[in-house]
Parts: sequence; structure tokens; C-alpha cells
Amino acid sequence: MSSKINKKILICVGARPNLMKAASLFRERAKFPELSLQLLHTGQHYSPEMDAVFFDELKIPQPDYNLAVGSGSHATQTAQVMMRFEEVLLKNSFDLVVVIGDINSTAACALVAAKLGIPVAHLESGLRSFDKSMPEEINRLVADHLADLHLVTEASGLDSLAREGIAADKIKFVGNTMIDTLINHLEDINQSPILTELGLQPESFVTMTLHRPSNVDEAQGLLSMLKRIDGVVPSHLKVVFPAHPRTQKMLGEDIKTLGTRFIMVGPQPYFSFLALVKNAAFILTDSGGIQEETTYLKKLCFTLRPNTERPITVSMGSNYLIHDQLELIPKVLAGEFARTFEVPPLWDGKAGTRILNAFQRFLNC
Ligand code: UD1
Repeated sequence: MSSKINKKILICVGARPNLMKAASLFRERAKFPELSLQLLHTGQHYSPEMDAVFFDELKIPQPDYNLAVGSGSHATQTAQVMMRFEEVLLKNSFDLVVVIGDINSTAACALVAAKLGIPVAHLESGLRSFDKSMPEEINRLVADHLADLHLVTEASGLDSLAREGIAADKIKFVGNTMIDTLINHLEDINQSPILTELGLQPESFVTMTLHRPSNVDEAQGLLSMLKRIDGVVPSHLKVVFPAHPRTQKMLGEDIKTLGTRFIMVGPQPYFSFLALVKNAAFILTDSGGIQEETTYLKKLCFTLRPNTERPITVSMGSNYLIHDQLELIPKVLAGEFARTFEVPPLWDGKAGTRILNAFQRFLNC
């Protein structure tokens, strides 16, 4: 191994959940002088509270390239990323392009790099909900079938990739960089003043997030789900609701009809949000990443979706996949369906290092 070899790797991010995952690679990069990491931001998320705040808190370097695509329909957003990303790749040379997770930017960047013959690594590869009505499932399939290196977070990913014919030597079980970031920042999370600011005691509230189109893109359905939640969450608990911009837009003034135990706040910075997760009595969510963070924290989580692409959070972790069966919440709280909660293999804070090692081997340096 020679430190003279300098391989250029472009890490592509686009939206909030990508940032926690990329942070771990930048944190560990000093140990790998042979690898030169650059950052490209597609600009899919752009509001300060959805974007800049995470760069500050997680000490992610400013992007070397910003495509500034913003919001749009799926086709528009994907096409804009592709057109602008192609220009970057044509003007620069990279040995490896890394795409993360399952957002529109993930699929778009993978497609452009693959067509230009640049090797692609997919971080968080192999997850499957088997539900193509979710845009994320389509993005996962595209990225995985174009990638040359598959970085897997949980055992189900190994099975899915093998079943889909991906060669075993392209697949590396590396663990979870989102959990690396959580472990690295536990002290910052413990010091967050958010509970005091909101006048909350630990365990006196539940934290809820909803942003999936299937749950929030129809105002009446969303409001009736929130009313049902109000009916099943024990009455002594407040409901803290850090609402995604898309959910805020849909609810508008209707949130006021829900009464004072709902504490609606905007998207939260990372440390505040994780403090609200860690100190809640339990979590209600339709997010992907929060299922993993609650699993690591062994915090009871109810996922309001019919399926999960992260089955280990249910088989080993603290996640209960209840979809719209909200009546299960009091039953689980009363001790029915009790399970022991364990932290999945390799969710140990070292995934970033394993990934950079995998890059080194892939690039022969
Ligand atoms: C995207 C991802 C989803 C991920 C989520 C995390 C896709 C298909 N979806 O969904 O997998 O879980 O990010 O948040 O890629 N908006 C703002 N400010 C922003 C970004 C968005 O106000 O910085 C608003 C816009 O009105 C936009 C809407 O939110 O139209 C939705 O944003 P978009 O990027 O299309 O998808 P997300 O719902 O955020």
C-alpha cells in the first residue's frame, strides 16, 4: 500500500437523511490518506433547517459542487440532477462515485455515473420494502442494479442482493453509518436544551414524525389519522410533532383543531431531534432512518407504514410495524407482544471505517 496513490472519490448527497450517513465518512477520512474525498450536494433539500444546520452540527465540509436543483416533480427533480451532474462528471475525473440511501438524487447520480463508465458504490444497499408504490423502492432498485460496490447495513440486504443476482464479491456487510453518527454525538444529544425549551420532562411526551406521501399528501386522511392518534396515546403524554415542510403545508391551520397536547414544531436540528427521540416515552413515525435510530437506542417505536425495508428493526430491534392499526399501541404499552430488544450486528460506530477500507480495496490502493 502506497500513500502516494491518491484516488478521487465523489460522495453525493441530496437530502437530510443522506447527511447523517455521509458525516461518518468525512469524520474518518484522515485515517485514509490514499483516498481523496470530495462532496457533491444535489440541493434536493435546501431550506436551512433541512440542510445547512446538519452541516454545522455534524461538521460536514462544505460541498465542492452544489447542483441546486431544489423541489419539483419526481421526473423534474431526477432529470435536473442528471443534467447538472453529467456536467460535473464530464469536467472532472473521479475513480468512484458514492450514492447514499434511496432518494431521487441517489438514483439520478447512479444513472449518470454508470452511463459514463465511472464505478458506483451504493451506501445502504440491499434494503427492500417490496412496495413499488414507494418512490424510494424504485430508487433503491435503480441504484443497486447499477452499483459496482454494495455497502450493506443489515443481513436482509445480503439476501435481497443475492436473490437479485448481484455477485457476492461486490457486496460488503459494513454496518450502519447513521448509527456511527448517533454514537459519535451522544454527548451533544444529551446536552441539547430542547426539552427545557419546550417545557418537557423526560418520558412525559411522545415524539411523532410523518412525511411519507401515502400518509400526508391528503389533508383529510392526515387529519383523521392525527385524531385517531390522539385517541390512543395515553392522555398524560404530550405529542411533540417536528413536522416536515411537506406535512406542515398539508396541515396548515388544521393542527389547531387537535388541542393543546400536540406541540407542533418545525424540522429540528440533529441534536435536538435525537434528544426528543431519546427522552420520549415512545416514537410514532413513518421514516426509515428513525426506525434504525430507535433500534440502537432501544426506544419503543411504532411505524405507521404497511411495510419496512429495514426488517432487522422489527426482528431484533424496538420497532413495531403497525401501519394504520393504531389500536395496537395501547396493547403493546400494556405488555402484549413483548420482545427483547437488541442492537443489530455491526451497528457499532465503525461502519465509516469499514467503508473507507472497502473503498481502498476496491480501488487497489
Ligand atoms: C425526500 C425523500 C425521502 C426522504 C425525505 C427526508 C425522495 C423521493 N424522497 O422526501 O425518501 O425520507 O426526503 O426528508 O427523494 N421542502 C422544503 N425544503 C426543503 C426540501 C423540501 O420546503 O429543503 C418541501 C418542498 O415543498 C418539497 C417537499 O418539501 O416539494 C418535498 O420535498 P422532496 O425533496 O420532494 O421530498 P421529501 O418529502 O423531503
